[in-house]
Amino acid sequence: MPDPSSEPPAKLRWGILATGHIARAFAEGVAHSKTGRTQAVASRTAESAERFGAEFGIPNRHGRYDALLADPEVDAVYIATPHPMHEEWATKAAQAGKHVLCEKPIGLNAAQAERIIAAARENDVFLMEAFMYRCSAQTAKIVELIRDGALGRVKSIEASFSFALEGADPGGRHLNKALGGGGILDVGGYPMSMARLIAGVARGLPFAEPDEIKAVGHLGDTGVDEYTSAVAKFPGGITARLSCGVALEEPIAVAIAGDSGHLTVPLPWKPAFRGGTTQLLLKRRGAEEPEVIEVTTDEYLYGAEADTVARHLDARQAASPAMSWDDTLGLMRALDAWRSEIGLRYDGE
Ligand SMILES: NC(=O)c1ccc[n+]([C@@H]2O[C@H](COP(=O)([O-])OP(=O)(O)OC[C@H]3O[C@@H](n4cnc5c(N)ncnc54)[C@H](OP(=O)(O)O)[C@@H]3O)[C@@H](O)[C@H]2O)c1
Repeated sequence: MPDPSSEPPAKLRWGILATGHIARAFAEGVAHSKTGRTQAVASRTAESAERFGAEFGIPNRHGRYDALLADPEVDAVYIATPHPMHEEWATKAAQAGKHVLCEKPIGLNAAQAERIIAAARENDVFLMEAFMYRCSAQTAKIVELIRDGALGRVKSIEASFSFALEGADPGGRHLNKALGGGGILDVGGYPMSMARLIAGVARGLPFAEPDEIKAVGHLGDTGVDEYTSAVAKFPGGITARLSCGVALEEPIAVAIAGDSGHLTVPLPWKPAFRGGTTQLLLKRRGAEEPEVIEVTTDEYLYGAEADTVARHLDARQAASPAMSWDDTLGLMRALDAWRSEIGLRYDGE
């Protein structure tokens, strides 16, 4: 008989729902997590589930999403479909008694987010919106610096996340309105959630709600926001300049300015993808050169996200800086306001 005290703790058994681009990164992350293993994968086709399962060594392979939700060997489901299907599958997963990690944005709008959160609450399961950067060692360090007053009183935040798809397929999810295409939902949540985090932490809170949002944007022939910029004002006189796009190449960065210095984050959203070292640049007022602050981690980014879920499972929601339910709801309302400013509505809204 093995000595039970020497057995490793049971791992959280993940089921991955959909086999696209980000599902692959998550499968690799879970394989390097401290707390999880991928037990099952589901695709709309048996072939794709088989292929993905074989590649990542996943034992249970389902050719239908609902078969994954019925799999008794799955504890937690990771939803990796395009945004318009998040509500259906996150809700069904919660109703099946599975814990849920749902890709960002959690839904198309705040109303969908409210219904998904209600399903998690009613079925007493964990739920988190998958903003992986919020689970990283680098974000924890940024929060620590702001909280410790390294910049003095925070006045302004600048954040961007844009990319230009090479030879983009107009039917692909980034530019296809029916698939929730456009910059605000795909990547605008990053700068907006960063501004909310910093504006909150600067005032001793987990996050802050903006008092005001203004925006302009370019809707192309695709009908979705190809690129757009917003300004927001937060309590305490904190302002933010935010931009995002799916058809725009611009520098990606975060810069936070306070009355005694400023902090530049060159790799804000995907720091240390497979572990490693990233740098923050802290320029104190009056100093000639910025101080380079190195953040080193042995965690894979998406492994840290899976571990964040496991760590907060009993509380049913994550603690800041990871996404709590109220943070997700406020973020979706802010993205609704940003879209409303530029006149973008999805069918059925
Ligand atoms: N956190 C991050 O770093 C990050 C990065 C990229 C994307 N995301 C988010 O993850 C989600 C998926 O993005 P992705 O880039 O992985 O997309 P993707 O490569 O297009 O994959 C989406 C997958 O969803 C499934 N699917 C179900 N219904 C579909 C439909 N009608 N059309 C197309 N695919 C459908 C497909 O899997 P099956 O064929 O197996 O069913 C498909 O492979 C999005 O909500 C996005 O915002 C997050």
